[in-house]
Amino acid sequence: MKNAEVITKITTTSGLIDYDKTYKEFSWEAIKKEFSLTNNRVNIAFEAIDKHANNWRKNKIALYWEGADGSLQKYTFSELKRLSDKCANMLKTLGVKKNDRVFIFLPRIPELYISIIAIAKLGAIAGPMFSAFGPDAVRDRLQNSEAKVLITTPELKERVDTILWELPKLERIVLVNNKEDYELEESDVCYKTLIKDASDKFNMECSDLEDPLYILYTSGTTGKPKGITHVHNDMLSHYITTKWVLDLRDDDIYWCTADPGWVTGTVYGLWGPWLNGISIYVFDGRFDAAKWYEIIQTYGITVWYTAPTALRMLMKAGDDVIKKYDLSSLRYICSVGEPLNPEVIRWGLKVYDLPIHDNWWQTETGSILIANYPCLPIKPGSMGKPFPGIKAAIIDNKGNELPVGQQGLLAIKPGWPSMMRKVWGDEKRFKEYFNIDGWYTTGDTAFKDEDGYFWFIGRADDVINTSGHRVGPFEVESALLEHKAVAEAGVIGKPDAERGEIIKAFVVLREGFTPNHELEEELKKFIKHRLAAHAYPREIEFCHNLPKTRSGKIMRRLLKAREMGLPTGDLSTLED
Ligand code: PRX
Repeated sequence: MKNAEVITKITTTSGLIDYDKTYKEFSWEAIKKEFSLTNNRVNIAFEAIDKHANNWRKNKIALYWEGADGSLQKYTFSELKRLSDKCANMLKTLGVKKNDRVFIFLPRIPELYISIIAIAKLGAIAGPMFSAFGPDAVRDRLQNSEAKVLITTPELKERVDTILWELPKLERIVLVNNKEDYELEESDVCYKTLIKDASDKFNMECSDLEDPLYILYTSGTTGKPKGITHVHNDMLSHYITTKWVLDLRDDDIYWCTADPGWVTGTVYGLWGPWLNGISIYVFDGRFDAAKWYEIIQTYGITVWYTAPTALRMLMKAGDDVIKKYDLSSLRYICSVGEPLNPEVIRWGLKVYDLPIHDNWWQTETGSILIANYPCLPIKPGSMGKPFPGIKAAIIDNKGNELPVGQQGLLAIKPGWPSMMRKVWGDEKRFKEYFNIDGWYTTGDTAFKDEDGYFWFIGRADDVINTSGHRVGPFEVESALLEHKAVAEAGVIGKPDAERGEIIKAFVVLREGFTPNHELEEELKKFIKHRLAAHAYPREIEFCHNLPKTRSGKIMRRLLKAREMGLPTGDLSTLED
């Protein structure tokens, strides 16, 4: 069993007070009663925005926004209602209807948030994309979802121009932040112009709880990214997990550092806090330790949701920079996305005088499922305990539950409100998640201790987690193969002290190409530009051949074992 270190610094809370009692008595039906449902029909945008705009929160700031250049904006709930109504009317005039896919390729600017609300109001499906994506990543998403409209900026559109011919279903591009003299192409329209004339009263589509709300693409071991599709009903999970895990209250100023192109940024970057009527802060800039502390001081951030890599980078930046800022507003810190080292928790206790609460979930689960809570002691290194209403277990590959302390597959009993409803256009891949005796299998391995705490071990597959970003080796290998010098490529995640894992590629070159430093740099740049800035291999090793099975599959596991100097295991299926 892992270390027995326990942090008993329990935070006072008005949310979840008695874990065991709540877990025992919890019912999703009771949570449902907190929403204005009639016959199971409602709209998440009503619950998160319009409801507050119509009550005492109407003049409360919903969004504090800061641009990378230092520009500041504030929006109340009633302003967000008005602007999202206008945006919904604009999209309607462009022909967007219920169930249409509208993809958003924007930096973290207010229009990104306003569009997401507007798309929900229309009953259409939002597809937020991370602004670091390259043309290949954008093409895969727009093609698979058959998106009808794309909302982007002139700078980001340059990346889309090269692949437009591959997107016959895309009818319109809406451009945000284009300069006055920017020449629009025939199929493009200007957000600012259309918004100006659009009515600020929109008759919201009343959605069935099972109507789709958003699609986020995520990586597996094989194939292209999967379009994980979520529905309006997710709001039950968004609402209550935000309240009990992030411990948000009405007077909080909350900062989630994730981009809505990732699930944390969509669920806990906007929907979860707004369903609770909370003021959020958004920064459209890059990581910088001093800037981040300045944000906490200036805005009086009280609750902060971030990622282990960011915390490790802050730890590396040292304690002196912390002393320059007044961080006394902070009362609660959470972290997600990758293993949170106990060392970081101990450091957080020392410098912020607060424990960091790790929690676990996935794009597919749609909300936090395992967490540390304000009312429970933290065991550093553990992800915590299942959220009320969630049955989590460690199983073997036949679906038998394993006893305390034994490692196995982390699995969940299906049926919680925010579970993905489909993999867009791929029923087979959706079903594969439930192959083991009806359990939802997560792809992670873990164990449970005698107090019911879950401890993460690793992935059961080849999926890479770099700085909390999930990257499929197949995508990187395919992108590498598009370069003229590359004959074969095998990609693995290599452990890294700061980023959790880095991407390492083993590359066999075509005849006529010689391995050298310039080519290595060129390949890195190629992937950064084609696929995504976060998904390029930080290490490339040129080799003469790659280990393959007799059926020709690259043995990534062997590459990884060799890289790490570990036993290579059973090699009987090796090609030669
Ligand atoms: O391997 C687990 C890791 O991130 C995966 C999910 O990635 P994604 O769908 O991109 O969602 C990330 C944010 C919700 C998981 O299968 N992961 C997530 N949280 C943790 C974690 N690994 C260790 N500890 C965590 N707390």
